[in-house]
Amino acid sequence: MRIKKGISEKNIEELIKYSNSDERIRKFTSDGKRFASKKSFGEWRKKKREIYSLVDEKENLMGISWFGKEGEGFTLAVRVYGEARGKGLSESFLSETMVDFMKSGEYLEAKNKNWWLETSVDNLAAIKLYEKLGFEKFGEGKSIDKVIFRRRHDFGFEKNL
Ligand SMILES: CC(C)(COP(=O)(O)OP(=O)(O)OC[C@H]1O[C@@H](n2cnc3c(N)ncnc32)[C@H](O)[C@@H]1OP(=O)(O)O)[C@@H](O)C(=O)NCCC(=O)NCCS
Repeated sequence: MRIKKGISEKNIEELIKYSNSDERIRKFTSDGKRFASKKSFGEWRKKKREIYSLVDEKENLMGISWFGKEGEGFTLAVRVYGEARGKGLSESFLSETMVDFMKSGEYLEAKNKNWWLETSVDNLAAIKLYEKLGFEKFGEGKSIDKVIFRRRHDFGFEKNL
């Protein structure tokens, strides 16, 4: 298993399949729309998010994360797919890719380096993951079933990366 910067054509196809079929992806994310097809993936790419993929030894897609400037500071997203899910891989995948992104010019040159994200109140796997990485509940999101988490830019990582 390894982490790659970017995403291959083969992995984009797998991403589209998971986005259209995975129950939790459909429940907790907008990927069903965002990654409905190659065309919508191409549209989304124009946002210039930094994307990372997690692949197994056969180059099968196991997860993705992406990062970018949004609102006040930076936001991120993470997905773990198929057999790889529920095995405790998300913390090291997200923290390693986040630390790599934090070395980029886009991040280093930004005035506001704080992080924020919105998730569903019942997305317990995601909430546990974010709390492990130093995010704290900040307040209600766009709707009552959503919650905003924030992470200070100077909050360290527990693991020595
Ligand atoms: C969120 C996501 C990336 C987490 O990855 P994962 O492989 O499921 O989670 P992990 O196995 O690494 O476990 C993370 C933590 O959540 C807990 N957890 C995992 N699945 C859980 C579940 N269904 N219910 C409650 N807790 C759960 C784990 O026990 C672990 O906590 P711990 O360290 O205290 O034991 C993954 O579930 C996913 O892709 N979900 C769909 C997309 C999504 O919701 N993304 C986030 C949108 S904001």
